[in-house]
Amino acid sequence: MDKYLVLGNPIAHSKSPQIHARFAELTGQQMAYDKCLVASDGFNAMLAQLLKNGVRGCNVTVPFKFEAFDAAHSASARAQLAEAANTLVFDEETIYADNTDGAGLVADIEINAGRKLAGLDILLLGAGGAAAGVLGPLISASPRRLVVANRTLSKAQALVARHRQHESLQQALQKIEFSAQTLESLNHNRQDPLHSRFDVLINATASSLSGASIPVPASVLKPGALAYDLMYGPATQAFMDWARDNGAEPRDGLGMLVEQAAVAFELWRGQRPPAAQVLAEMRAALS
Ligand code: ATR
Repeated sequence: MDKYLVLGNPIAHSKSPQIHARFAELTGQQMAYDKCLVASDGFNAMLAQLLKNGVRGCNVTVPFKFEAFDAAHSASARAQLAEAANTLVFDEETIYADNTDGAGLVADIEINAGRKLAGLDILLLGAGGAAAGVLGPLISASPRRLVVANRTLSKAQALVARHRQHESLQQALQKIEFSAQTLESLNHNRQDPLHSRFDVLINATASSLSGASIPVPASVLKPGALAYDLMYGPATQAFMDWARDNGAEPRDGLGMLVEQAAVAFELWRGQRPPAAQVLAEMRAALS
C-alpha cells in the first residue's frame, strides 16, 4: 500500500492523518498516512530513510518547511515564492516540493466562505513564514489591492520585492496595487478611509499564538469584511471575537488546513477529495 507521512516537531497535535484517512475513504484510495516526530537536527536523515523505504510523499510542518524546500530537486513556482514546502512528492530518488498552503487559503475563502477575491482589497498581516506561504496564490487570485503590513517594515518590503520579481506573477501583478507598509502606519491613515479599509483581512502574524493583542485597529475593516486568522483552535478566540464585535465575518484556519491537504492529496493521488464535506464533519465534531 502507498505510504505517506506528516513530519514535524511537535507533531502529536496534527490533524493531517485524520483528514487524509477520510479523503482516502471518500475517494476509495488505498493508502496509509501516519505522523512522524522528527528530531530538530534529523530532517535530512529522515528524508533519506523515507526515500529508501519507498514512501510516496510527505507533508511537512513546523519547523521543517524551509529544510524541505532546500532538500528538493525541483519545486513549484509557489514553493519557490514561499522558499518553503509543505508537500513533497517522492519519485524513485528525486524529490519534488510544493507549497499548498496558499492554494488552500484561497480555496477556503473562495469556495467555503463564498468570497471571490478578484477585485477585492486585501490586507495581509505578517511577513514571516506563514505570510510567505500564502502571498503568491493571493496575488494569483487577482485582487484589486494587496497590502502586506508587518511590524518590521524591511521584512514586508523584502517579501513584496521577491514576489514582484518572480516571473510567474508578472501578468497578475500588472493589474494589482501591491505594496508593503508597517503595522504602525495602519493606525495613522484613518483620515483616508477609502485607502485604509479592506474587504479581507488575513492575520498571518504569530499574534494569536503568543496571546498578543490584535495587531491592527478595527478601522481597517470595511463593514462586513472577512477577517481570517491562519491559526485555528482556542488561540484564535480573541481575534474571532474582535472581528465579530467590529462587524466583520470571522474565520479561522481550519478550512485552510483541510483545503491545503486536499491540494496535496490531489497532487499525490490525481483525485480531488471532497474537502468541503470533510471540513463540515470536522467543524461538527469540534462543536
Ligand atoms: P511564522 O512561520 O508563524 O510566520 P515567523 O516567520 O517567526 O513565524 O513570523 C512571525 C510573524 O509574526 C512576523 O511577521 C512577526 O513580525 P516581525 O517580522 O516584526 O517580527 C509577526 N509577529 C509576531 N508577534 C507579533 C505581534 N505581537 N504583533 C505583530 N506581529 C507579530
